[in-house]
Amino acid sequence: MADQFDLTIIGSGPGGYVAAIRAAQLGMKVAVVEKWATLGGTCLNIGCIPSKALLHASELFEEASHGFKNLGIDIPTPQLNLRQMMVHKADTVASNVGGVDYLFKKNKITVFRGIGSIPAPGKVLVTPQSGGQTEIVTKNIVIATGSVSASLPGIEIDEKKVVTSTGALNLESVPRRLVVIGAGVIGLELGSVWMRLGAQVTVVEFLDRILPGMDSEVARQFQRMLQKQGMEFKLSSKVAGIDRAEDGSLKLRVEPAKGGEAEVLEAEVALVAIGRKPFTEGLGLELAGVALDERGRVRVDAHYKSSVDGIYAIGDVIVGPMLAHKAEDEGIAVAEILAGQAGHVNYKAIPGVVYTNPEVASVGKTEDELKAEGINYKIGKFPFTANGRAKAMVATQGFVKILADVETDRVLGAHIVGKNAGEMIHELVTLMEFSGAAEDLARTTHAHPTLSEAIREAALSLGDGAIHI
Ligand code: FAD
Ligand code: NAI
Repeated sequence: MADQFDLTIIGSGPGGYVAAIRAAQLGMKVAVVEKWATLGGTCLNIGCIPSKALLHASELFEEASHGFKNLGIDIPTPQLNLRQMMVHKADTVASNVGGVDYLFKKNKITVFRGIGSIPAPGKVLVTPQSGGQTEIVTKNIVIATGSVSASLPGIEIDEKKVVTSTGALNLESVPRRLVVIGAGVIGLELGSVWMRLGAQVTVVEFLDRILPGMDSEVARQFQRMLQKQGMEFKLSSKVAGIDRAEDGSLKLRVEPAKGGEAEVLEAEVALVAIGRKPFTEGLGLELAGVALDERGRVRVDAHYKSSVDGIYAIGDVIVGPMLAHKAEDEGIAVAEILAGQAGHVNYKAIPGVVYTNPEVASVGKTEDELKAEGINYKIGKFPFTANGRAKAMVATQGFVKILADVETDRVLGAHIVGKNAGEMIHELVTLMEFSGAAEDLARTTHAHPTLSEAIREAALSLGDGAIHI
């Protein structure tokens, strides 16, 4: 007799594991199928969590190396112990994936190890590495199989010399020269890690700007900040090929994006960070009749239902930003929908954060989008150079930019470059969630001295004027 469940989720990343917990809380008997040895998916194992462990440690290393003297802290020149930094990363990952194990036990969720496939609605087959197969009979199925790194045609990834983010999180030594292909979130975060630890970093980007999708003024200013730190950029350029020299070094042929003469960039390591693609291999979706869109994502309706009744999908494998918190919120929403409740995600208020130094954080519309949509907007801005706490923290780089509707004063988008921007953005996310106006923010008391006062000042500048500038 096959095991019977109310809900079977394939994939235990932020989408899958959160859906499982909420479904169990709502009284469903839940199974999760995961092919990896540990739970937590890309984010916990090879994404958000290990990258933030290295970003944190490398930022402190950089600060201890260059930033302490003026504060009156004299220390000997710090020495890098990369092996220990990697232990910190591994411990952080272990503690987080162990946390998911604990939560699954607490919520009585059954885990099946192996590759999950869907021979028909209501059935999931689990094929473990060790062989054999288990059949699960289930009322509903949620596909939460996530995404994998996109590859560049003709460029072979070995995860040692030519790496994706996975290899870049595991380098055994600091490369003398690192070339990053793609000035997106992964390229700038992991490029920052290795630059702080001593690598000379060049970023090759196809477009004429970094961080496509982010507000272009923010991206321009942020690029200048990274350049000041020593990061080099080759915009409007593409890598046509990588040759490997006998000594193991790499020679990257870099061409103008529009074509033309190639130049050669030498590197010890090349990081391919040109985006991620949805992962549905091995699920047997064709057999089950589940339709994909033109970009290989599972096509879903507003309730996350695929083209087949009883089969749903969430997270990186469907349309929308490939972000852990977006996957998590869809996990909660789909569980609530399956329980007969009104699960919902507000896609207009999903924050995005680049965890560099300074951080870049954003929510809602960019100025470029408002222009393109012909919306009548006003801009409130405030620089951290005029913020007392930022001065005390030697963190005066960056600014807050709030975009509001001219007629209604409603906040349509907000963008922050600065220390702790990723934490500060949430007051704007909450404001937008409640359809708040800039005046609401301007009239809200903010503790002094805090970096968050810059947000209030930006809001004040949309009315009668900021006070401290
Ligand atoms: P995933 O986390 O990709 O999980 C999918 C799971 O499904 C995996 O465990 C996989 O093994 C399993 N699986 C796949 N197919 C099968 C199958 N047939 N059978 C069984 N199991 C299967 N996002 C942020 O919001 N903040 C960040 O700071 C951030 N940093 C990142 C850093 C890096 C280096 C990377 C690569 C990504 C980062 N992301 C970040 C993105 C984030 O990791 C993803 O958006 C998120 O993990 C998506 O969650 P998911 O549940 O959809 O899928
Ligand atoms: P990305 O989409 O953010 O950036 C890819 C960049 O590569 C773009 O700037 C693109 O123009 C460029 N590019 C594409 N093809 C190219 C080529 N042939 N040559 C040169 N440049 C090229 O993708 P990235 O950085 O790989 O990250 C993947 C996803 O992971 C992101 O969409 C993001 O959602 C998620 N992520 C989120 C993080 C966060 O929230 N802090 C951190 C890391 C990843």
